[in-house]
Amino acid sequence: MDIIVMPTAAEAELLTARIIADAINAKPFYKLGLATGRTMENVYAELVKMYKAGKVDFSRVISFNLDEYVGLKGKAETNKDSYRYFMNYHLFNHVNIDKRNTHVPNGFAPADELDAAAIAYEEEMEDAGGVDMQLLGIGRSGHIGFNEPMSSFSSRTRVVTLTKTTYEQNSPLFTKPEDMPMRAMTMGVGTCLDAKRLLLLATHKEKANIVAAALEGPVTNMISATALQLHENAVVVLDADAASKLKYKEEYAFQFANDPKWAAYQPAKRKASRAKAKAKK
Ligand code: GLP
Repeated sequence: MDIIVMPTAAEAELLTARIIADAINAKPFYKLGLATGRTMENVYAELVKMYKAGKVDFSRVISFNLDEYVGLKGKAETNKDSYRYFMNYHLFNHVNIDKRNTHVPNGFAPADELDAAAIAYEEEMEDAGGVDMQLLGIGRSGHIGFNEPMSSFSSRTRVVTLTKTTYEQNSPLFTKPEDMPMRAMTMGVGTCLDAKRLLLLATHKEKANIVAAALEGPVTNMISATALQLHENAVVVLDADAASKLKYKEEYAFQFANDPKWAAYQPAKRKASRAKAKAKK
């Protein structure tokens, strides 16, 4: 696992957007797993900026979102509380992705069709050849997607019941907080682990404890994000606040600064001082 700590949330968001854009530019038919939540809003804003500056082309990207609420009224596209709406609003409406290639679990399916919709979602990912990179946030409960504590590491896309912690975290985001559903359809932990690469972003102090538990604590299904420790190609981007409780931050910083694969992502200042030191020799 690579852990990258940037001084500010803005820098962490920009770095995350750059990793995504570079991956798409390297392989245009990219299968991109996407996430929602406050943490991602600026990542998508940065990607929109990059698209408008001609730096990234989404025309052949196929996307799969992690999750969607179950029990929202009306249509996914028009219900402002849906994750489909979130994605259209923050990203899809502003870039050249073909909306037919964007997938969000169908939490709006009729009650007796939800299980079939979850299975169909897994099949769609499989038919696309699997997800190349899955973007992840982390909830205060340690969830990735909506995989609440006690989710099996082999779980697949399914309907889950949310925890009190998640209700308290997410209900303020609803038009009417009491309208937040108690259930959601989410990719499983096993589904996430199948992605070729994982990219988790966490920012701000409120995530510091859960980030430390997820990255440096024992692997446990009480904290779904600890599953990242089992993945062979996981990247975690943090701001200094979210990283503040990590025990080995200096080691991660040292590795990041010296790993050739991250050379192009070094903060400009550090690159400049290295160039200066070289010039002096
Ligand atoms: C929701 C999503 C998660 C996301 C989490 C983090 O619960 N289902 O996928 O990681 O929010 O939220 P925020 O970024 O708002 O802290």
